[in-house]
Amino acid sequence: MTTATARQIVLAARPQGRPKLTDFRLEETSIPTPIAGQLLLGVQYLSLDPYMRGRMDDRKSYAKPLQLGEVMTGETVAQVLTSNLPAYAKGDIVLAPTGWRTHALSDGAGLRKLDPAFAPVTTGLGVLGMPGFTAYVGLRLIGKPQPGETVVVAAASGPVGSLVGQLAKLAGARAVGIAGGPEKCAFVKDDLRFDAAIDHRATDFPAQLAAACPKGIDVYFENVGGAIWQAVLPLLNNFARVPVCGLIAQYNGPSGGDGTDRLPATMRQILSRSLTVRGFIYYDFAEQHYADFLREVGTGIADGRIRYREDIVDGLEKAPEAFIGMLEGRNFGKAVVRVGA
Ligand SMILES: NC(=O)c1ccc[n+]([C@@H]2O[C@H](COP(=O)([O-])OP(=O)(O)OC[C@H]3O[C@@H](n4cnc5c(N)ncnc54)[C@H](OP(=O)(O)O)[C@@H]3O)[C@@H](O)[C@H]2O)c1
Repeated sequence: MTTATARQIVLAARPQGRPKLTDFRLEETSIPTPIAGQLLLGVQYLSLDPYMRGRMDDRKSYAKPLQLGEVMTGETVAQVLTSNLPAYAKGDIVLAPTGWRTHALSDGAGLRKLDPAFAPVTTGLGVLGMPGFTAYVGLRLIGKPQPGETVVVAAASGPVGSLVGQLAKLAGARAVGIAGGPEKCAFVKDDLRFDAAIDHRATDFPAQLAAACPKGIDVYFENVGGAIWQAVLPLLNNFARVPVCGLIAQYNGPSGGDGTDRLPATMRQILSRSLTVRGFIYYDFAEQHYADFLREVGTGIADGRIRYREDIVDGLEKAPEAFIGMLEGRNFGKAVVRVGA
């Protein structure tokens, strides 16, 4: 680390709808000194994830909301700068829940050592981390794609969606990705090797999606909600499975942006098509499935069957702008901030 003082970003105000730069505040503090039983961590990379938007609201959810003035929540790749714990040595690289800051103390709770020889360390925040694991368990345990079936996923160039489609292909299914804009669609189809990619910003998006799914949809991996769910709903086959992973179109407001109430149509379709719709949070599956995930997806990356893309911006001070951009689709791949050397 080259900075003499530590820096951190705190929640300055609760966003009304879309977050603004003034909802965040950059603060300087002194670098803390570890006592016995503690590590001093120097953060190298910070992960930006859609769930962080929910933590900024004062609303009950599966996790506690942030208090005003509290450091923004976040997972990071960090280096052990000083170790007063026998299990860690200076220089070790760990995955750590430090939040949006340059330095942090840790008693070792929630840390996972990363092996830079296994894969680039940033993958621990994306394809080989929480988002990748979310794709893996949501698709495998809830979506259960069968050979020849059609799997649709939105936010398809992001860390969750990109792995969902690639795992669907490896399971012998047809993968259709939904993404924002021609560049992302080309990446999803050509680099990630999905069978089709549809731009949700196109005026005839529902018709294009229907044309790309001539046999209907058997698994819809829900990352977005809103208008995309509305286009998917009439295409779902009998006994289709819908792992409900995220609803990013609703994170800045209650109704997917356009005020349409989709509940009656959704309930009608769940009944008449015998759909299985199941919400899930990745950590409920971690104990049982994380090791299998790391082995399978790690092997897939090493032998080229699984590809990933990262969108890395430089400097902790850029995190708020990059985070706001991610909620609006300006990231192209897993959103990461490079914090220190
Ligand atoms: N349940 C769990 O345990 C769990 C864990 C991790 C993540 N998640 C959820 O999984 C989803 C994907 O997360 P991720 O980490 O892979 O991030 P991500 O794909 O990078 O998410 C950002 C992307 O969402 C898309 N998006 C944003 N607003 C949209 C809108 N109104 N309509 C359509 N697309 C929109 C944009 O892509 P385009 O430009 O392509 O539209 C944007 O680039 C999120 O909903 C997240 O909350 C859930």
